[in-house]
Amino acid sequence: MPAIEASQLTRVFDQKTAVDHLDLAVDEGEFFGFLGPNGAGKSTTIKMLVGLLRPTSGQARIAGLDIWQEPLKAKQLIGVLPEGLNLYERLTAREYVRFVGAMYGLPDREAARRTDELLDILDLENDADKMVVDFSQGMRKKTALAAAIMHTPRVLFLDEPFEGVDAISGRAIRNVLQRLRERGTTIFFSSHIMEVVERLCTRIAVITQGRLVAQGTMAELRALAQTGESGTLEDVFLRTVGATDEQILEETQRGLSWLE
Ligand SMILES: Nc1ncnc2c1ncn2[C@@H]1O[C@H](COP(=O)(O)OP(=O)(O)OP(=O)(O)O)[C@@H](O)[C@H]1O
Ligand SMILES: [Mg+2]
Repeated sequence: MPAIEASQLTRVFDQKTAVDHLDLAVDEGEFFGFLGPNGAGKSTTIKMLVGLLRPTSGQARIAGLDIWQEPLKAKQLIGVLPEGLNLYERLTAREYVRFVGAMYGLPDREAARRTDELLDILDLENDADKMVVDFSQGMRKKTALAAAIMHTPRVLFLDEPFEGVDAISGRAIRNVLQRLRERGTTIFFSSHIMEVVERLCTRIAVITQGRLVAQGTMAELRALAQTGESGTLEDVFLRTVGATDEQILEETQRGLSWLE
């Protein structure tokens, strides 16, 4: 049984089909990368998979449990770093992360211990008692990440975890994710940072205009995009979404008449 499964998952906003009959299956223990241009439907897909946004049609399942039919059971299995990061602004980072731990039923002492360790490795220990409202973007992201992994979820969803965090924290996040994975957590994340995706992921899917256009291991994607053995993920990505270097250059040159 797949850890994550989308069947014909679809979301229409007014006239716009943001996610279009998406089929996807991610096995237990995978480190799955989700790529696509801006507006492709990544965040919309993630929100439907985790029960934050109701699909127009189709199903989303976590370890076989439909997230919309059995939300309480399914949500216990997952951790989510969502887009937008709506945190409780009036709590301190320490209070916030501990509160999330309590919500998942961790005993007080255990929640406190995990909070301290997480804030420490994410380099937030000096700001742990400041209110989240006063946090920078990257500090918020790290706080939200700590909260998402507090309960050692079986399946972890991360919407752009590396965007806006510094290089040191980026590395710490990578290490934390690797360790979770070694303990068996399935990880599904979206990112625009090709190098990180290429390095971490066992499998990658590419979405554009709400449709899945490629998925597979790096080797499978290279073959599909016909980039050759030395093709990077960026090469694969540009090809599968139908963009070329020449075309991008041409469009930026032709399109900006006032910069002539
Ligand atoms: N709440 C909403 N109401 C109307 N349209 C929406 C809403 N949320 C997303 N969309 C539209 O759905 C499409 C997909 O958006 P989505 O946020 O899923 O893209 P994304 O792949 O996450 O992009 P990015 O890389 O920029 O984060 C876009 O055209 C967007 O305008
Ligand atoms: Mg997004």
